[in-house]
Amino acid sequence: MAAIRLIISFTAGRNFSQNDDCGRFPGGTDAEFTMGMKKFYITTAIDYANGKPHLGHAYEKVLTDVIARSRRMMGEDVHFLTGLDEHGQKVQQAAEKRGIEPIGLCDEAAVDFRGLCRDLEISNDDFIRTTEERHKNVVRGILQKLHDEGRIYRAEYTGYYSARIEQFLRERDMVDGEWPAEYGEVVEITESNYFFKLSQYQEWLIGFLNDHPDFIFPRFRRNQVLEFLREPLNDLCVSRPVERLSWGIPLPFDENYVTYVWFDALVNYISAVGYGEERFEDCWPADFHVIGKDILVPPHSVYWPIMLKAAGIPLPKSLLVHGWWLKSGRKMAKSTGNVVDPLDLIGQFGPDAFRYFVTREMNVGQDSNFSIELFLSRYNSDLANDLGNLVSRTLNMIGRYCDGSVPAASIEEEPEKELRALWEATKRSSAELYAEMQFHTALEKTFTFVRAINRYAEIRAPWKLSKSGEAEDRKRLETALATMAEGVRLSVALLKPVMPGTAQRVYALLGLEEVREWEKDLAWSPVLSGRNVSAPEILFPRPKSAE
Ligand code: ME8
Ligand code: MG
Repeated sequence: MAAIRLIISFTAGRNFSQNDDCGRFPGGTDAEFTMGMKKFYITTAIDYANGKPHLGHAYEKVLTDVIARSRRMMGEDVHFLTGLDEHGQKVQQAAEKRGIEPIGLCDEAAVDFRGLCRDLEISNDDFIRTTEERHKNVVRGILQKLHDEGRIYRAEYTGYYSARIEQFLRERDMVDGEWPAEYGEVVEITESNYFFKLSQYQEWLIGFLNDHPDFIFPRFRRNQVLEFLREPLNDLCVSRPVERLSWGIPLPFDENYVTYVWFDALVNYISAVGYGEERFEDCWPADFHVIGKDILVPPHSVYWPIMLKAAGIPLPKSLLVHGWWLKSGRKMAKSTGNVVDPLDLIGQFGPDAFRYFVTREMNVGQDSNFSIELFLSRYNSDLANDLGNLVSRTLNMIGRYCDGSVPAASIEEEPEKELRALWEATKRSSAELYAEMQFHTALEKTFTFVRAINRYAEIRAPWKLSKSGEAEDRKRLETALATMAEGVRLSVALLKPVMPGTAQRVYALLGLEEVREWEKDLAWSPVLSGRNVSAPEILFPRPKSAE
């Protein structure tokens, strides 16, 4: 079994905390949870403010949102944080290029990235910008503490620096004597700087990773970190002289320097939830930091754990590391220009189609190729044909044969038994798949169920039953429509974390309010019986270009 303990059923209040066998918190997180104190705290990476949002950013937010929404469905109190990484050389350079102040550039980016969250219906509870006082205060506080305790010292240093990834490189990062193109321009610099004693914690970190195989999901990525830790760690340069970089948080103990952007950015995960205040305990430790594989080593798997350890703060419970969206086999990135604008897709197909596509297509942890053909094929076959048609034929027939009111199921024959059994299996496996982050397979199974309802309709053929004058056939017809309607309801209830708008819309068409809790809403029940349904609407219109 993968990173987390199985959730055997979608039941509130049990089995939610993963790797609480880590022993970091005597008493365990289950206890805290049952007492209703600790929230399920999940974060995304904070995006660099020097570019427009692209598919990679949109995906990470959707993935995190699917987890956040599913945890809410399971009855957890969720706190979901996302935000913007605003300091550093890249932002300063981008602002200079445009002839504007860095903060002006960041304000624009904040509008774009907040807009992305809104358009994608991301349910984040907070959006942090690293230029906010609440954040800068915490960064200064931590720097001062580490400096006071002698964990940050001053020294002269010569090294190779990549502005693109805002990191010093090591000579062994060269390939055949050259810096790989992904680093952009690399320059050798000598300067006096402040250093954080990273190396002092190397053995501790190796031990920690060995003791906590579930700290990084998927598990195989831990090896990458251990590999990196096989060489001696250098201390981390946490300052930049203001002559070279002014756009950053001044060091509290030397204003000739600003803070290295990674040391600043990582702190967002604690500054946003009130580190230093009582409410910090409500959220921390984070349950998941969701990040892309490019920022696992070293920032999230080496710097961040060591920063926390040195500051005496508990570590997050796990890092969820997703792969890349590729286009024509290459990472989609602003520096290569091969980006897909998620807003185009959302504008044309709606947020749920986008959310469905990325969740269905990406096996969390692996890479995935984007192509518009693939997008259209999923849209047309899964959404428009399978789900969209099912909803509209169900509502149509209830209108035509039962005056728009959902009839009661009164018989149970082989076709009903089969469908019902498939639902129970779908529900069970979805619970396991959600727990294992296998969202793509969970969706595959849900759509297998959707298709099975369509097949059930073909078998029962209510349009034929309606022509028979026999009482038994009338019962079969009513049972068929009740069963289809219930199947539709259950499917969209299960799809809610991925397609919240669609779930809401279909619930409304069925005369219901909203999906609230999986424990209740995923149970096969006669809840629809006697309800007036609405006339069908087209949920997934055919794309214009294809008409
Ligand atoms: O790294 N496919 O910001 P960022 C999937 N500010 N995910 C992708 C992707 C792609 N093609 N391209 C980027 C940063 N991402 C830092 C983070 S956190 C304290 C600071 C993901 O804007 C990437 O892996 O370059 C990262 O998780 C996120 O988008 C932001 O990337
Ligand atoms: Mg990046």
